[in-house]
Amino acid sequence: MIQILPRYSYVQSPSRSIPLIALGYLEPFLSRCFCTRNPQLEDDVQTVFQIINSSSSSNDLKLSLKSSGVFLSDELIDKVLKRVRFSHGNPLQALEFFYYTGKRKGFFHSAFSLDTMLYILGRSRMFEDIWNVLIEVRGKDQSVITPRTVMVVLARIAKVCSVRQTVESFRKFKKFVPHFDTTCFNALLRTLCQEKSMTDARNVYHTLKHDFRPNLQTFNILLSGWKSPEEAEGFFNEMREMGVKPDVVSYNSLIDVYCKGRDMEKAYKVLDEMQREEQSPDVITYTSIIGGLGLIGQPDKARDVLKEMKEYGCYPDVAAYNAAIRNFCIAKRLGDAYSLTDEMVSKGLSPNATTYNLFFRVYYWSNDLQSSWNLYNRMMDTGCLPNTQSCMFLMRLFRRQEKVEMALRLWSDMVEKGFGSYTLVSDVLFDLLCDLGKLAEAEKCFLEMIEKGQKPSNVSFRRIKVLMELASRHEALENLSEKMAMFWRPVQVRGSTDRGARVR
Ligand SMILES: *[C@@H]1O[C@H](CO)[C@@H](O)[C@H](O)[C@H]1NC(C)=O
Ligand SMILES: *[C@@H]1O[C@H](CO)[C@@H](O)[C@H](O)[C@H]1NC(C)=O
Ligand SMILES: *[C@@H]1O[C@H](CO)[C@@H](O)[C@H](O)[C@H]1NC(C)=O
Ligand SMILES: *[C@@H]1O[C@H](CO)[C@@H](O)[C@H](O)[C@H]1NC(C)=O
Repeated sequence: MIQILPRYSYVQSPSRSIPLIALGYLEPFLSRCFCTRNPQLEDDVQTVFQIINSSSSSNDLKLSLKSSGVFLSDELIDKVLKRVRFSHGNPLQALEFFYYTGKRKGFFHSAFSLDTMLYILGRSRMFEDIWNVLIEVRGKDQSVITPRTVMVVLARIAKVCSVRQTVESFRKFKKFVPHFDTTCFNALLRTLCQEKSMTDARNVYHTLKHDFRPNLQTFNILLSGWKSPEEAEGFFNEMREMGVKPDVVSYNSLIDVYCKGRDMEKAYKVLDEMQREEQSPDVITYTSIIGGLGLIGQPDKARDVLKEMKEYGCYPDVAAYNAAIRNFCIAKRLGDAYSLTDEMVSKGLSPNATTYNLFFRVYYWSNDLQSSWNLYNRMMDTGCLPNTQSCMFLMRLFRRQEKVEMALRLWSDMVEKGFGSYTLVSDVLFDLLCDLGKLAEAEKCFLEMIEKGQKPSNVSFRRIKVLMELASRHEALENLSEKMAMFWRPVQVRGSTDRGARVR
């Protein structure tokens, strides 16, 4: 038998993935977001933002700023640019504003303002302007160009350019960042992992590793997210060869890849090694182990891990319980799965939609309508809102068993409480309603959806159209067609999606 747990106590890890903040890139970026409220400042931000958004020329902008009498402080500029970023304001005028404020004698832009400005430009693909801004800023105060700047710019470039172009841009930074060191290299690798692929990050790492001194962060970035143990092992060995000591994050990556590959023996070997190296496993380590044991058909043993980890001072969280519950659901032992859910609640942890979906999935495949319905009601009673996946399991089951009332109840809950994706769920709902000729109901749901600003799919619309034509409801059809047509008008382009917001 496999030895389960090493014996010492652990500190619980606060988070399940390596957050950017732990890598030190975003701290200043974030801390700025929590300034104390100052009504006068907020008003001024609003005034200046409006000026930027409505100015038609650079002269216009300057005149309006002067006549507004607002004092353009460092803090105000930070906030105005942040506002432009999140409201998708005009990038050209924002750039004018940035240059104008930066030209004032004795004024230096903050690192936050710079990064926000570059982000705005990058989002609008104004890459030339990015380098012009950097040249300008370098001439004044190079210290505001940081590894975070590298990260912000490269992320926008990687989104639309090739790996080669991203790496070229990275090299260009050498002339801009005061310390072009491993932190910058790590920023490049992290960008490639996020925007391109692990393989690209690996290749670039091998090309550039001799120019930098890879550190623990470098390897933690490269280790996470592999599907093949060979790749992870490769980096682990390289790490050792370079004399970099793995930490719990590195070990967790390796353990996870073994567990996902059902190689529990190797996973436990790594756990032993952690013990020897005095690295405490955390809740993430154990969750991987629980998942791995489930994959090799040992749900009971996984439940034991849940118990034993507590003895070592590492408390299971929702994700750890979900992993153990998933194992019993896969094994179709729903009684055991429910007891774990109860245990979870008794420990003060709330099952979330992911937990419920484990059960919905089983019921969906066994066609168990009544249990699904009961569980749905229990879920709503406890105040846990279903997500899209829950709605899909339910709606598909209702459709299969032609349960119109249940389907309409789910839909009205969705509309009232605002959960689930209307687009995906409504397709199944309209199929059901149209199959059964429930035209009035279909029309009502259709209108509700449009009222929420969501476009019903063309397929759904065509189905309803056929029924309306058969029923000679020409005026109603006219009305619906008109509403659909509103979605077909070209909508205003708002720039690309703001993925940067994700990290907040
Ligand atoms: C920016 O200006 C445009 C047109 O002048 C206006 O439609 C839009 O609502 C403004 N945006 C904000 C966030 O104020
Ligand atoms: C449920 O909780 C786990 C652990 O915190 C989390 O990973 C998962 O995303 C949550 N699910 C939902 C639907 O929020
Ligand atoms: C739906 O139909 C409209 C009008 O015929 C068309 O412009 C639009 O591209 C279609 N959308 C999809 C996703 O097929
Ligand atoms: C169509 O829309 C008009 C105006 O909104 C409304 O007065 C009329 O009752 C609608 N007709 C049908 C059949 O829904």
